[in-house]
Amino acid sequence: MMMQNTSLPQLSITGHTQLVGLLGWPVEHSISPPMHNAAFASLGMDWCYLPFAVRPEALAEALPGARALGLRGLNATVPHKQALLSLVDELTPEARAIGAVNTLLFGDRMVGHNTDAAGFMRALRETGFRPEGCRALVLGAGGAARAVSYGLANAGARITLLNRTPERAIALAADLQAAIPGADVRAAPLPQMQIGLLAAKADLIVNATSVGMWPHTDAMPWPEGLPFPERALLFDLIYNPPETRLMAQARAQGARAENGLMMLVHQGAEAFRLWTGVEPPVDIMQAACLRAIRLPH
Ligand code: ATR
Repeated sequence: MMMQNTSLPQLSITGHTQLVGLLGWPVEHSISPPMHNAAFASLGMDWCYLPFAVRPEALAEALPGARALGLRGLNATVPHKQALLSLVDELTPEARAIGAVNTLLFGDRMVGHNTDAAGFMRALRETGFRPEGCRALVLGAGGAARAVSYGLANAGARITLLNRTPERAIALAADLQAAIPGADVRAAPLPQMQIGLLAAKADLIVNATSVGMWPHTDAMPWPEGLPFPERALLFDLIYNPPETRLMAQARAQGARAENGLMMLVHQGAEAFRLWTGVEPPVDIMQAACLRAIRLPH
């Protein structure tokens, strides 16, 4: 006899299902659940990735709870990435230097990792760009800028940090110099209008600010009227919209511009590898992210 509704997607949670997930507050806009679950499904893995909306004041309680329930690991997003530094048993050198944990691995000890720097560097190298010895201008000094600058400094890039609040850029430069012997990182003590002087010398410009992100897509972390340098690669960490106003301006000047989607995919892929020991299906993860971004949320 014919089975009915065979075309409906089947939820395949079994008694063996391994759990991972995301700690955030809020978490509902995250596209990490569809990204990881598509990866598990494509490989026929009996794993599931769940969103956990955890209030900041409940984070310390959530961790032993997650371990007791047998979760294999977790991702963390805003506002938990810094708080986790003092809640884990062990930090990787990256997580310590960046000052943020975005991935937890539960074993005998709870280890805090940061896969954002590796994710960014992989996405950057995939474009064909060679960061060794390049001149990089990083806009921003928040969590994303910390991860990007750490990755770039480790690769031997010469980095200038420019941030609306200069003290944060100065602190980040000092942290990187302390963490990476010989790191060539400085904070530009310049007003925004002089960005053009630095940009003209840059091989790579990274937008690690949130300026231009949906829904404020008219905003730009760049002085109005200042042309984008044609020779620089723009790497905008924003992925929604897929082309920011800054990216459009860079392309109009003849420069190459990339968005942040592949950094998101690769930081997820690194976490997937840590939890499962399996090579992540990057193309499947990318396609799942694109589908999720297109859905209204
Ligand atoms: P994330 O973890 O995503 O990096 P964050 O730590 O809040 O988030 O950092 C946001 C970055 O965007 C910071 O560099 C911030 O500058 P400040 O340090 O001066 O706050 C930058 N940013 C946010 N809104 C901005 C704006 N309107 N103009 C310029 N920079 C802005």
